[in-house]
Amino acid sequence: MKQDLLTISDFSQEEILDLFEKSADLKEKRQKGIQHHPLKGKTLGMIFNKHSTRTRISFEVGMFELGGHALFLTGDQLQLNRGESIRDSAQVLSRYLNGILIRTYDHEEVTALAEHATIPVINGLTDLNHPVQILADIFTIKEKLGRIEDVKVAYVGDGNNVAYSWMMGAALTGMHLVIACPESCQPHPAPGLSKNDKVEIIADPFEAVQNADIIYTDVWVSMGEEKEAEIKKKLLLPYQINQKLVDSAKKDVMVMHCLPAHREMEITAEVMDGKHSIVFDQAENRLHVQKAILEKLLSHP
Ligand code: CP
Ligand code: NVA
Repeated sequence: MKQDLLTISDFSQEEILDLFEKSADLKEKRQKGIQHHPLKGKTLGMIFNKHSTRTRISFEVGMFELGGHALFLTGDQLQLNRGESIRDSAQVLSRYLNGILIRTYDHEEVTALAEHATIPVINGLTDLNHPVQILADIFTIKEKLGRIEDVKVAYVGDGNNVAYSWMMGAALTGMHLVIACPESCQPHPAPGLSKNDKVEIIADPFEAVQNADIIYTDVWVSMGEEKEAEIKKKLLLPYQINQKLVDSAKKDVMVMHCLPAHREMEITAEVMDGKHSIVFDQAENRLHVQKAILEKLLSHP
């Protein structure tokens, strides 16, 4: 049976921990120059209806390094965006490819693709969520702190697709997540959260970062939200990750951002380039974790 990755909860806690072991192993192999080609002869189709640097490149390089091949397909070049149905496209693509990565707007498009495809479908970001990002981020936290359970993450900023995936990821792995955002920017409620999960949404960024191990943020205006840009920028100004906020947290707090960053908006250059920032280690780990996801999902015949 094929397995998809459309939301983080498509993986169990055990699968996530196995994925992190695999990611660490792949990272070490790459650092030592050890070749590892489990996906020889396999092809990933990558459909992008939105811009991307990290997701596109980590998956494309990842396929190459695992011995396979990746096809970059912008939606505009496919018949899909000229009206060919998702159902027909899914069936045709399943005859050629071994897996599909898709980044698009409407999450329903991804679930429909997965429903009709006979090969694994990986969500490379939708308006709703960004699971491959948060898996890589939790791996980075485990790598830096040596643990995940009870780590406190303060997500400060817009309650967007990244925040939504954070809620599911934290609940699955036993992390304590506090999201600080204005009321009108709160994330979609994540399904399946229980009272035992340590996921909170509050308004005060200074309260959120108290005793936090990690301060995390993302852009204030996500792809597709350009019309709301001016309103959101005003609303989110008090949620900027700046030195004052970082100085109010623990001395060894680490700052993360999924990138791309807009310096002097959601994060100041001083913090982004400062000693608490781990944003580029975080970005690098996209490659190792995306490779582990590819090997897990595409290895089957
Ligand atoms: N963080 C992330 O997904 O980056 P890209 O938009 O560059 O892929
Ligand atoms: N929330 C951002 C994430 C970019 C990686 C967006 O959807 O544009």
